[in-house]
Order: sequence, then C-alpha cells, then structure tokens
Amino acid sequence: MADVPLGSLDAARPAVPPPETFVAGARHADPGIYDDAEADWVGWWERQAHDLAWQRVWQEPLQWDPPFARWFVGGRLNASVSCLDRHVEAGHGAQVAYHWVGEPGDRRDLTYAELAEEVGRLANVLRGLGVARGDRVAIYLPMLPQLVVAMLACARIGAPHSVVYVGFGAQALADRLVDAGAKVLITADGAHRRGEVLPLKRTADVAMGAAESVRSCLVVRRTNSDVRLMPGRDAWYDEVIGQASPICEPEPMDAEDPLFLLYTSGTTGTPKGIVHRTGGYLTHVAATHRMVFDHDPDRDVFWCAVNLGWITGHSYGVYGPLANRATSVLAEGALDHPSAERTWRIAEVDKVTTLYTTPAVIRALRAAGEDGPEAHDLSRLRLLGSVGEPIEPEVWRWYHEVVGGGRCPIVDTWWQTETGGIMLSPLPAITTVKPGSAMRPLPGLEVSVVDDDGARVERGQAGHLTVTRPWPGMLQTIWGDDERYRRTYWSRFGAEVYATGDRARVDADGDLWLLGRDDEVLKVSGYRLSSAELEAAIVDHRAVAEAAVAGRADPLAGQAIVAFVRLRPGYDRDASTVAAQLRQHVIARFGAIARPETIVIVDDLPKTRSGTIMRRLLEELAEGRTPREISALDDPDLVAHLIEATAEAAGGR
Ligand code: PRX
Repeated sequence: MADVPLGSLDAARPAVPPPETFVAGARHADPGIYDDAEADWVGWWERQAHDLAWQRVWQEPLQWDPPFARWFVGGRLNASVSCLDRHVEAGHGAQVAYHWVGEPGDRRDLTYAELAEEVGRLANVLRGLGVARGDRVAIYLPMLPQLVVAMLACARIGAPHSVVYVGFGAQALADRLVDAGAKVLITADGAHRRGEVLPLKRTADVAMGAAESVRSCLVVRRTNSDVRLMPGRDAWYDEVIGQASPICEPEPMDAEDPLFLLYTSGTTGTPKGIVHRTGGYLTHVAATHRMVFDHDPDRDVFWCAVNLGWITGHSYGVYGPLANRATSVLAEGALDHPSAERTWRIAEVDKVTTLYTTPAVIRALRAAGEDGPEAHDLSRLRLLGSVGEPIEPEVWRWYHEVVGGGRCPIVDTWWQTETGGIMLSPLPAITTVKPGSAMRPLPGLEVSVVDDDGARVERGQAGHLTVTRPWPGMLQTIWGDDERYRRTYWSRFGAEVYATGDRARVDADGDLWLLGRDDEVLKVSGYRLSSAELEAAIVDHRAVAEAAVAGRADPLAGQAIVAFVRLRPGYDRDASTVAAQLRQHVIARFGAIARPETIVIVDDLPKTRSGTIMRRLLEELAEGRTPREISALDDPDLVAHLIEATAEAAGGR
C-alpha cells in the first residue's frame, strides 16, 4: 500500500539556518562533531561518560549481546553524586538548582547545597524505613521540590524510584505499585490543579489498600487537605525529615544497576515498567542536554516545562540538567492557568534562556492569543525546544517568531520513554532546520527507516523508524519481563534492530519527518495518511487552535477522516461555515484524498492531565461509540459535549 505524498509541507517552507548571533555565542558550533563521533562511536560515548563523577572507571565500554546491552561494565558511580555533591564540592553550593513556582504563586529557590542536604536527610529516612539497595520506592507527588528530592534520595541509596504521574487514579497507581513491588510510597496531602485540589492522599490510600508490598508512606504537606495518617504506616514528610541527618553516604552502584522504573502504556492495556540504569542513562541525558540545548551552566536558565512524572521530566527536568550543574525552573500546575500570561511572566522573572516543552502546551499558549509573549521581556530567551509529538509548521512558526522573536533556534527532539534521552534532533548552532522535521540522529547514534521487510527505504519514502545500534540511554528491559522486552522492541526486524513503533519519512536530503505511531496511520481508499500530517494541514488554517483526526470505518474508503477541531477565539461564531472552509482548505492543499469527511468543532480536545490527546477516545467518538475508559481524562465533563458535537456533525455531514 502506497504512502500518499501528502503535498509537501516541508518543500513549501524555507529551511531556517541557525541565527548568526546564536552561533557566535554557542559552545557546540563545530559541525565536525558528527564525523568525530562516527569515527569511533563507542569511544565517543566513553568520552561523554568521563564527564560524570565515577567512583571506579569501567573496564569495558559496551557488551552487546542482542537484545541486551551492558554499558560501562565494571564502572561504579552514584547518580546523586554526579548531580549534587561534586558541584557543591567545586564551590557551586550557592548556585540555584531550581527556581520553584507554585500554582498559587508561592515561590522557593533551592540551591545545590540545600538540595544536597535535603536529599541526604530523606535518604537517611528511607534507609531508616528499611529501604535497601534494589528496593523500589514509588513517588506520587505533584511538581514540588520534594519530588526532585525524593528521586535523588532514592538514587543515593540505590533504590530504583517509580514516579507515578499524579493524573493517574487509584487503580492505575495500585497496578504500578503492585507490578514494581514498591516498599515505600511518597505522596502529598493534595495537589493543586487549575485552581482545584486533587485529593492525592485519599487516592493513595485506596491504592495502598490493594498493594500489600507498601509498608510505609511519607506525606508531603501541600494543600492542608484533611487526610488520615494510618498509624505504623504513614508519617508527615516534614516531621521525619527534620529529625534526620543531612549526611548520607552514597551507595556505590554498578553502572548497570537500575536507576529507576517508569511506567508507560504500550499497545496492550498492561503498563510496561521501563527500566533505566545508572551509568548509561546518566551519560546519555547529560551529553544530550549539553549538546542539544547548548547548555552553559554559567549563562543559562533552563526550563523544561513538562511534568516530571514523564520521561522528559526525568531526563531534562532532573538528571540531565543537574549533572550539568544547570539552574532550572520548576513550575507547579498548568502553564495556562489562570492564564497563559503566567508562562511569560515566569520566563521574564526567572530570566529563562531555554524553554523546552510540548506542542500541546505551545498550541494552548498560542490559542490564548499573541499578545502574551509580546507583553513581556523575553529577550533572555536564546533557544526553544519541542518534544512529544510532531509540531505543526504553523505552530512552529508562532513559537519561532512570536515567542522566540525570530532569533532563537528551535530543536524538535524525537525520542521515547524507552530511549531514555533524545535521539533525533537538530544541533542548534549547526543544523539548518526544516520546521516540522526532527532532522537527524544525534552524534553517536544510528537509525534507519525500513519497509515492512526491514529493508531501508529510498529517500522520499516512508517506513518504520528503527535504531540500528545500541545507545547508552537505551532501556535495560521491561521490569520483570525480559521476554516482553524482546518481543516488543527487538523482534519485528531481528534481534539487533530496535523497533520504535513510529513511522517516519526520509526526505530528499535524508532528513526525517515523524508521521506518528504505526497505529495512528489512517487508510483512506487504500492510501495511508498520517494523522500528524493531516493535523498539520488543518492547524495551518488561521481559524484553528488545535486539531486531531481519527478514522471511522467506511464501507467504500476503508476509513473516513473525522477531524476534531478547536477554533481560536473569535472564529467560533459560525462553526458550520468554518467547517466548510476548512474542508476546502485541506482539499486545496493536499487533494481530495485528504478531505475530512466529518469536522467536529469542539470546545476542547480530550486530553490526559499531562496534555496528551486521548486518541483512543477520539477514535471511539469517530466510530459513533460511547467512550468507555475516561479515567485519565483531565476534564471528564467534556465527554457529554464531545458526544453531542460528534453526533451533530455526523448528522449534518
Ligand atoms: O510517537 C513518538 C512521539 O512520542 C512517542 C514517545 O512517547 P513517550 O514515550 O511518552 O515519550 C515522549 C517524550 C520523549 C514517540 O514514539 N514523539 C516524541 N517526540 C516526538 C514525537 N513525535 C514527533 N516528533 C517528536 N519530536
């Protein structure tokens, strides 16, 4: 089945070279870095690893027994030492590690010395609770400094952490506690969320009731919610911390020891505990944080504006930046609550130089109006980043021109929970970027786009994105299930090829365009249409703030396209006229094959609390079914509206 050459968004837009002013001030501006890494890729990663604090250097950089790789074999280190102690010892204890901003507007600056002390205290508390090297600790906390402290305290004593995003409910938390066999849970009384309070401890109580392994629970005070502490199991975090010593000997970990588990959803309903290990992971995230964000600890303020409960938060909100002695911003709550102005104010006040977030957030900020960024002094911004989904060229342009004032390169970074760190991305002082393309693999990495038989596709063609050599940040396995690890990632194209599950197109220059997950490809009249490209086409229209497409079974075409569209303020008066215009717009741009059969104008797209669009829910709506599983939905009240809007649009089709 052919992939439709969907017009070409790429060819229509000029490529953007790195601005000269950026290059002049950049640390990583030598294009020779690619050849340098290619000449000896294992040796190149070794050079990156040397930047960490090792207690004992490795004997062998890589043992590759497909599909299991061991990086920096024989090496010994503790992640918390690379992230904290060595900076304090080098005289940087007074440097701010985090400018923390609470949702209600409260603030706290945390220096490296303060962070190291609190980590030591909590590490001692955890040891006192009987947590030993290798035991799992679950963390169910909002975006508070204590979340970072908890992760690093686990690292200090060699207990893999499993951070569970606070958007998950009791059943999801219980499943994760049980799968990991977590001994301790660290949570809070409640979490601020768009002006409301999520009852975290109450949810945790229900989950712990179903998870026998959890023996102790520490509760951070945040919302002064009414909670019940179970005697013998629960304790207030601040009370136990106050009594503990800040000095805690770091556990000497093997490079290959797990640093953390992070659950992610797969194609089946059972979540996968992705295991990342100490030496390779830390090497990958520190090196990529330096390169991709051209990071200079004495110049930059880095804002990874995503939830820490997600891999992006682990790698570029915590481990990468701390290993590189960064000053970061950590913000609780939604970036557009109470209004998008909050984002620009934080960027101004904290003198943010580098902003890294998701297209979903960028779209939400864009929909709030263009006055926002312009009303603030964002002159410190020098670099912008995007992660998590393809960024539509129109959204890219807004980010570039309105937020970045046309002077900030944008790095569109492709990677996954499983890859640990960034895999595809421009280098900001080197790469001439094409808006919407994640461009190429970073130095030291190798990928290939292949057809169904595993043969590399020609330029101009699309196929499955694979990774063809091991990389240091690669997942070690799926917790407790080596066989599932092998089957999920290393069987489709052989045991030495990592199947990402994504489709990508290689353009005439060899640059890569992500087309979405394999299963998000629609088939209309025998053609494959990428949901990502369709959505880009729709968002390209000036009336549109955000769009997502889903397929509806169609007896003639196989699938028909149903587009869910949220309009920008001011365009929502006459939805049916706008729908007709949009249809024409897409047809004019890409041809009739891409014509959305139904256009549903909605108040909002259904999203999880982390801002990911719930595609399964949209598919159910598109098919005319009532959505079944809505527990992950940020705003459950939206469902009734979506059902009604879909029925109305389908009726008037
Ligand atoms: O489909 C790709 C998409 O997000 C998936 C990975 O999701 P997750 O494990 O949650 O990690 C997201 C953050 C690293 C990928 O398989 N994805 C991620 N980044 C991009 C992307 N799609 C297009 N462009 C990107 N830059």
